[in-house]
Amino acid sequence: MYEKLNLDNQLTQVVIVHPNIKWGRNRDTLSTPQLRVAEAVALMDTLKGKVVATTVESLKIEDKKTFFGKGKTGELCNLMNKLKQKHQVTAVFLNTTQLQANQRQTLQKLWSLPVYDRYGIVLQIFKRHARTQEAKIQVELASLKYLRSQLSFTVEAYDLDRGHLGRAGESGQEIGRRALEYKYRQLSRKLKDIRQKRATVRLKRQRNEIPTVAVLGYTNAGKTTLIKALTGEKSMIPKDKLFATLDTTVYSGQLISGFQILYIDTIGFISDLPHDLLESFSATLEDVINADLLLHIRDISHPETEKQKASVLNVLRDLYLPRTALENMIEVHNKIDLIEDYQSNLSTDDHNAVAVSATKKENFELLSQNIENGLMKTTGKQFYKLQIPNGGQQLSWLYREANVSDLVPSKNGKSLIVKCIMSNGVYRKFCSKFGQ
Ligand code: GTP
Repeated sequence: MYEKLNLDNQLTQVVIVHPNIKWGRNRDTLSTPQLRVAEAVALMDTLKGKVVATTVESLKIEDKKTFFGKGKTGELCNLMNKLKQKHQVTAVFLNTTQLQANQRQTLQKLWSLPVYDRYGIVLQIFKRHARTQEAKIQVELASLKYLRSQLSFTVEAYDLDRGHLGRAGESGQEIGRRALEYKYRQLSRKLKDIRQKRATVRLKRQRNEIPTVAVLGYTNAGKTTLIKALTGEKSMIPKDKLFATLDTTVYSGQLISGFQILYIDTIGFISDLPHDLLESFSATLEDVINADLLLHIRDISHPETEKQKASVLNVLRDLYLPRTALENMIEVHNKIDLIEDYQSNLSTDDHNAVAVSATKKENFELLSQNIENGLMKTTGKQFYKLQIPNGGQQLSWLYREANVSDLVPSKNGKSLIVKCIMSNGVYRKFCSKFGQ
């Protein structure tokens, strides 16, 4: 049985088959087969799997039963046999979004190898990188959806409690479907609990008035590296791996003016992410929805940077963000150190973007200024410098209600000079309470 949930040993020596479909809804009009193969190789690299061979196979239209059609499937059988004689081959990665259960079954039988589609591979990557309980549950939910779609031959692979769930006269497939649904409901309930707890933490954060900046973008764009460089956070280790960041993680940082903010690192986007998978990860994007400002990080040196931008914007549209959140989003062009003629290649839409190099810390002052201006605009908060009595109640009030960035005693020590950020409303409350 090929569909065991723990697939670690299967993805070690892999043949990548990229279908270059010429007609129908699966025709790829946006990319080239070479770049598609490069992305598939990068996905395998993330899984630490060795790619023993890659092949691009043109076909007119996807066949419902065999995917490739009779003639091409026969040719591919010969190719697989030849490759197996030369190398140890443990699996085939067929680089299409999602195979039908019967297509996979046919190809696995013909090639005598486990066959993965993009959904299956991405799921494995998510699974290996999920760290928090929430991310683990989300991956499990996505696995269950996948298993359900492949049910005819995966039932035995999942750890089903048949004795407990089976009913008289039910087929293995029906028992399997019900067991998966039962497990799905259980996990969904657990996820709801965790989300409620997260909402409480978020509310607390909002009350303390610390502005939040969600850092998002295509996978490998350099989000983690940038946050690390901006905050000096040593514990974050950027990896040259797709999806290195699966969980939303919050890091505290200061802008150059002393404005204290929270950066939220988010999961990387990829194109053609199956919708089911995206839904399962929507909780990690909840912080994006609630952030005060969005930073869209782009790897401007990537050959498909425009296409990556389009797929990030598509996903953001699906999140039903307020219109102003997208309008105020700051676009950051990262990795400018890797390109020579950055300015001359800019499209007209790109002139408002901030160009940086996260690794070389280039242009950070400009980025910091843009973030500050963006936050002032979206939160309506102002920067205040107040003189308050040393030892009075004002300081603890400000710590509770505002965002205190800096604090120095006056020359005679009788008062304190406090730099803080707050809304007009909070400032008015402060004035009426303390008569400032
Ligand atoms: P995911 O978590 O997969 O979404 O990735 P990410 O967007 O957080 O990317 P990450 O920070 O892990 O960086 C990916 C790779 O790009 C790493 O090898 C970084 O060292 C490299 N990188 C990031 N920023 C820059 C940059 O400004 N210049 C260069 N040359 N490389 C960079």
